[in-house]
Amino acid sequence: MSESDQYAVLGNPVAHSRSPRIHALFALQCEQSMQYRAICVEPGMFPAVVRDFMQRQGKGVNVTVPFKQEAFELADVLTERAQRAGAVNTLLWSNDGRLLGDNTDGTGLLRDLQRLQIALKNRRILLLGAGGAARGILSPLLQAEPTSLTVVNRNIDKAHQLQQEMADLGELQVATYEGVQGAFDLIINATSASLHGIMPALPEGLLASGAAAYDLMYADRPTAFMQWATDQGCTLRSDGLGMLVEQAAESFYLWRHCRPATAPVLEQLRREVAATTDST
Ligand code: ATR
Repeated sequence: MSESDQYAVLGNPVAHSRSPRIHALFALQCEQSMQYRAICVEPGMFPAVVRDFMQRQGKGVNVTVPFKQEAFELADVLTERAQRAGAVNTLLWSNDGRLLGDNTDGTGLLRDLQRLQIALKNRRILLLGAGGAARGILSPLLQAEPTSLTVVNRNIDKAHQLQQEMADLGELQVATYEGVQGAFDLIINATSASLHGIMPALPEGLLASGAAAYDLMYADRPTAFMQWATDQGCTLRSDGLGMLVEQAAESFYLWRHCRPATAPVLEQLRREVAATTDST
């Protein structure tokens, strides 16, 4: 009996990852015979675990915190969007048998913003954070032709570094949390602070009328950023669960050449999250 194709998400910690559930729902919907599990990788073991998994019956892996950079270094060949992001969240075999690294995070964000009908073109965007999560989405955001894209970060040098790296794609404004000025149509949180209940202090009045707020992070309860957006009177706001589903769909497509419908999967996940949150 032949075993079904194997996939996994590699991270640490990874036990609470929703990726196995998302891919199980995709596989059911697309009638794909495959298995997808979460593997917790010890520090220093990432290359060995990937090689072992991929050399057995592994067809592909997703990579999450803290291994996206290591996956970038491990890949034999990189897609352009992975090169831009400086990080890899999806690995698969290329046609010529090399390990291909891709990054589906930016595409995932753009698809989710589209679903929410949040426009980027000719909009003033403020991005909080200049770490790996921010880097992964900057190039698709710039390519969407916003009026302006401003990055604020606690460590301003990291923001300036991104400004230089992206210069060929468009102009990035850089500001400090205290010094950022103006009104924005969309504020995106890419800091990890929000997950720890911290929202860096921002001046009042940064949200233009009708502005949207989007948190790349996702938690079972509203993040500090979601709470801040609510307190600012922002009604169009979303956490990153939709992006998680969309980036997964893009990985699934790379692996299985079949594009799952994401809306029913997102609805299902929201119901499951609500059920666990209600009972805890
Ligand atoms: P990730 O890959 O998740 O982006 P990272 O590269 O460590 O992780 O980046 C985390 C981001 O959250 C950074 O922008 C970081 O700001 P600094 O570069 O100034 O450290 C931001 N961040 C984390 N904790 C923060 C806090 N308490 N206040 C403000 N920003 C914070």
